[in-house]
Amino acid sequence: MLKVLGLSILLSFSGAAFAESIADTHTDMAGCEACHMDGEPSADMAYENQTCIDCHGGLDSIDGEIHQQHDGVLDCGTCHIVHEVQDPNDTCADCH
Ligand code: HEC
Ligand code: HEC
Ligand code: HEC
Ligand code: HEC
Repeated sequence: MLKVLGLSILLSFSGAAFAESIADTHTDMAGCEACHMDGEPSADMAYENQTCIDCHGGLDSIDGEIHQQHDGVLDCGTCHIVHEVQDPNDTCADCH
């Protein structure tokens, strides 16, 4: 009975409706190596920020005018706090 309960909790946690961080969704897809070289965080995160662009394209090409408006100004991780369950809209007030 306990095992059955545990499984159903796991399933509900992995369901699309349940919020997951970007790091978690991407680790599910391709492991920590999706963003970290050999799975290890770099000192300056330049490698990590470049991986976003390699897969998604740069700020000038991603859907949503919010992206074009920050082309050449911000890194993805400034608004998308990848290891937290977070709404990028909450970052706007930090600067504007
Ligand atoms: C979607 C890309 C992505 C994935 C996948 C990802 N990370 Fe990260 N990680 C980042 C970025 C970007 C940062 C820097 C921003 C931050 O600290 O949240 C970071 C920061 C970290 C840090 C803190 C490093 C520091 O010096 O502050 C650790 C530790 C870490 N990641 C470990 C992991 C592990 C372990 C996994 C796999 C379970 C993983 N990450 C998966 C992108 C990712
Ligand atoms: C290995 C390729 C790859 C890398 C690296 C990558 N992404 Fe993704 N990302 C995807 C795919 C595939 C999806 C799912 C389909 C989609 O929404 O485009 C996705 C989805 C997303 C989503 C939608 C929400 C979610 O969690 O699924 C966001 C936001 C996102 N990525 C941001 C980032 C950021 C920020 C980075 C860099 C820290 C990054 N991605 C690095 C391939 C990648
Ligand atoms: C100025 C802040 C900002 C920056 C910088 C930024 N984003 Fe976003 N991004 C947003 C906001 C805001 C949304 C819309 C989220 C919402 O309201 O659903 C979004 C949405 C997305 C989505 C669609 C998410 C989904 O759930 O379907 C992806 C993918 C994405 N961003 C990837 C990136 C990548 C890759 C970069 C870097 C090249 C980046 N973003 C840089 C603010 C930003
Ligand atoms: C880390 C700081 C930072 C964050 C976070 C940030 N912005 Fe910006 N934003 C800037 C900078 C810098 C510029 C370019 C210089 C400028 O035009 O002010 C800019 C430009 C813009 C512009 C272009 C129009 C203008 O003001 O010239 C809009 C609109 C905007 N941001 C809205 C947003 C929204 C909405 C969010 C949250 C999703 C956001 N920003 C998050 C720093 C930031």
